Amino acid sequence: MKNMREKHSGYRCGECGASVVRWSGKCPNCDQWDTLVAAGRSARTGLSAAAADARECVYFLPDAPQEDLERTECGIGEFDRVLGGGLLPGCVVLIGGDPGVGKSTLLLQALSRIAAGECKSLYVTCEESLSQLGVRATRLGYGGAPLRVTAENSLDTILALLEAEKPRVAVIDSIQMVTAREQDSPAGSISQLKYAAAELIRCAKENNFTLFLVGHVTKQGAIAGPKAIEHMVDTVLYFESERFHTMRILRAAKNRFGSINEIGVFQMTEGGLEGVDNPSELFLSERSGKQSGSVVTPTVEGRRALLVEIQALIAPSCYGTPERRTGGIDHRRFGMLLTVLERRAGLKLGGCDAFANVAGGVKIAEPSADLPLALSIVSSARDAAFPSDWVAMGEIGLSGEIRAIGQIQQRLKEAAKLGFKKAVVPKGNLASASNPPIPLHPVSEVGELCRLGFSGRSEKNG
Ligand code: TYD
Ligand code: MG
Repeated sequence: MKNMREKHSGYRCGECGASVVRWSGKCPNCDQWDTLVAAGRSARTGLSAAAADARECVYFLPDAPQEDLERTECGIGEFDRVLGGGLLPGCVVLIGGDPGVGKSTLLLQALSRIAAGECKSLYVTCEESLSQLGVRATRLGYGGAPLRVTAENSLDTILALLEAEKPRVAVIDSIQMVTAREQDSPAGSISQLKYAAAELIRCAKENNFTLFLVGHVTKQGAIAGPKAIEHMVDTVLYFESERFHTMRILRAAKNRFGSINEIGVFQMTEGGLEGVDNPSELFLSERSGKQSGSVVTPTVEGRRALLVEIQALIAPSCYGTPERRTGGIDHRRFGMLLTVLERRAGLKLGGCDAFANVAGGVKIAEPSADLPLALSIVSSARDAAFPSDWVAMGEIGLSGEIRAIGQIQQRLKEAAKLGFKKAVVPKGNLASASNPPIPLHPVSEVGELCRLGFSGRSEKNG
């Protein structure tokens, strides 16, 4: 306290140099306004020595010092791309996802590869034993990787280990299982999670290594989820899957050192996660093409266009209240489209069960899926197949109007690449799709959908 009072004892006038005890707007000696500054600061500039020092660190943008950041690729192409081209020193990456989705598998594969490339790596497993980790590594074909591993939960020990080992890349699997002694709250609580994350992040920044934090997405309540620490890290990736499917999508939700418009597509196989170079082929591989209720659409995921199959099944309801179910599509959007088709296209769907699904376990959140979904509903309701070599894309409004969508060229290119012959697109997109790689069939309202070339009549219409 004494110190503080000394520091702030009195003010000096920048004009006449008079000392006064209390600050006021006007100097009592020379009557000048706004000239009194705290004693100890430079009377002329009003800056303390500390502030003057600090100012040395403020630059005009072009003069600001730039670090040369060198990225280390882990060699798993899909992973490197989502990270923005590889790992950066001092960068903290949070990988979130449902339990069992493959977070540990992906990181074990990545770290084993990095370690094999003579980049010192440390894998801290807080959930599994070292033998479990070893068995998995052997199964993945990385049994001999020079990766440093340890099974440890205590934050203090982990921090000490990181200081001592000096890895260039480290994984904490998972952050929710790290316990901090200083915190009274139970393991897995929000305050534990935040404290442990803050300490580990500080350690990574100070020692300039890449840090991966694994976080399980949890049912709300019991355990704090990765959302709680998203703001503290540089990059947030989510690893997603639909249950029972082997497809996995790695998506960047935040990236201070790269784009968030990238996704990585993997397949979970016997030998671990494998990158998928051509996801469209995979998503369409099991399509029969002859059934009603199936329509293919190019959806844009990040910067990548993917072709996916949307399926609908409409059948008269046998048991009182009609059922409505969806997989991979927002069910409210589905309900809205059923109503729009009923009111604006004269389709009788009221007493029908209605199901919709995206094949392959992908989720589509884009409005561009409205048109293909509506077409698959029409196709199923009339039991007439949509031409198997056509694609469709477009947003549908409440009045049944079909609205233009973005990235049309990219979508058409992907469709052409996979051999599709015609695309049903919103009329409003014709201008933006000059010189299309495949012929276009423009539509402007849902009434036209029933007249499209269903059931092989496409040849005549097209
Ligand atoms: P895991 O990486 O443990 O998931 P997370 O860390 O996200 O909880 O993956 C668990 C699942 O992956 C498990 O159900 C088994 C499956 N799996 C394979 O199918 N092939 C493999 O080679 C491995 C290692 C796991
Ligand atoms: Mg795990």
